[in-house]
Amino acid sequence: MKAFLFNNKHEEFLKVYTFNEDKMNSSNKIKAIILAAGKGTRMKSSLPKVLHKVVGKTLLERVINSVLELSSIDEIFTIVGHQSEKVADFINNTYKESCKPIVSIKQEPQLGTGDAVFKAYDSLKSFKGTVIVLCGDTPLLTSETLQSFIDFHKQNNAALTVLSAVFDDPKNYGRIIRNPDNSVKKIVEEKDSGAEEKKINEVNAGVYCIEWEQVSPAFFELTTNNKQGEYYLTDIVDWSVRKNLKVQAYTLEDNDEIFGINSRFDLATANYLLNSRTLDNLMENGVTIIDPDSTWISPETQIEQDTVIYPGCIFEGENIFGKDCILGPHLFIGGNVKTGNNVKIFQSRVSNAIILNNCSIGPFAHIRDNVEISSDVRIGNFVEIKKSTIDEFTNVSHLSYVGDSSLGKNVNVGAGTITANYNPLTKAKSKTIMEDGVKIGSNSVLVAPVKISKNANVAAGSVITKDVPENSLAIARGRQTVIEEWVTKKTMNDK
Ligand code: UD1
Ligand code: CA
Repeated sequence: MKAFLFNNKHEEFLKVYTFNEDKMNSSNKIKAIILAAGKGTRMKSSLPKVLHKVVGKTLLERVINSVLELSSIDEIFTIVGHQSEKVADFINNTYKESCKPIVSIKQEPQLGTGDAVFKAYDSLKSFKGTVIVLCGDTPLLTSETLQSFIDFHKQNNAALTVLSAVFDDPKNYGRIIRNPDNSVKKIVEEKDSGAEEKKINEVNAGVYCIEWEQVSPAFFELTTNNKQGEYYLTDIVDWSVRKNLKVQAYTLEDNDEIFGINSRFDLATANYLLNSRTLDNLMENGVTIIDPDSTWISPETQIEQDTVIYPGCIFEGENIFGKDCILGPHLFIGGNVKTGNNVKIFQSRVSNAIILNNCSIGPFAHIRDNVEISSDVRIGNFVEIKKSTIDEFTNVSHLSYVGDSSLGKNVNVGAGTITANYNPLTKAKSKTIMEDGVKIGSNSVLVAPVKISKNANVAAGSVITKDVPENSLAIARGRQTVIEEWVTKKTMNDK
């Protein structure tokens, strides 16, 4: 199901809306509202804040993905404002395959968090279940925490549950004000708080579980009577308490989870925190990480037991590595890499590749763009492999380019071999085929399209432009001429 920007694609939005109305009354399903309209001035960037990345994925994606992992969620509304088109386009492109609709709703102008949530009101008019509200700039919140938060809300039959955290330095956050019996009374923003309230270190994390039917009338009564002249979402707490609805707070165990991004400094901290969390999980599961300080691994990377990661590695995107692998030092993995067991990859750059058991890659190899390498293959130094398949026990050991090619079993590609796959005039790319047992002599050029059949040999320094039949030898180079005593005669003449 696609995501839509409400203002621009009204018709399509209506279609989605009608589709969801059938499900509006099933109260087990939860809707989510993600606030992402703010400007993020302190980022000093032409890019909207929520499109900045933490360990390879945007802030917004990390929040949406955590929400999508909750099975009870059936629809997400993202409130966009600052550079709304860009953010909505990003959502459309990233989640076009998502089976749960993600609808972008525009908030223009941005009148505060209360006004932002109210923008989803029309879409939720007949909805009777639970709505969770969260911010697009807190990328470290896990789906496990969200699930416990929702469970706590449901188990206690609360009308409103607020996620809270206890901070040593609560500055800039809204404070949770409790009654003498410890029940939640209201939330006061830092800017509106008195000296006593400022001392409270239980803060509002900005995540809410709302029984929509009971609490949503509050949005009609929000005012801007506060220091910032904004509609505060936090005022629904006070409203609900005054209506005798059950309001409670759920206190976070790990404060890092609600770490919010407001500046490039925060971005660096979030990278660090998310990476540490990932490395800790990997080590807990039996992966050796020699130097966590110089190792960056995306949370979407799986690594099996007894694999060793040497210093200076960066793994982005989704990857799976098998057991007993040796990875690094100094390795860049760009995503979509899947390996078997006992694979060694040294000082290289690899993306979009499948590499089976016992292969050895690098140092200084570049493997990219849909490569399939079967087991026991060796790819050596200064070798680039692009869009190719390589069968077992084949070696491409030194200084070669292999593009748009298919290599059989037991092939040996000599040092400095180039597959000339590209015609710059027609811009066409053509295939090179090397069948099982083929041996290519050093410094040969194979001009594609060309096929070297089973067990054929190509002599070193050849430029091959025609197919080579099975079991034959192709030599395509100037013959060597030897002129005897040439040097002797030359020096005599010069005297
Ligand atoms: C808010 C809470 C505060 C809490 C803190 C936690 C209010 C009034 N205060 O404060 O109690 O401790 O979050 O991080 O809610 N946004 C919109 N539209 C708007 C305004 C904001 O979409 O008109 C979005 C922002 O993009 C951001 C989120 O809402 O993702 C929070 O807004 P922000 O201005 O950062 O609120 P805080 O002042 O941090
Ligand atoms: Ca904030």
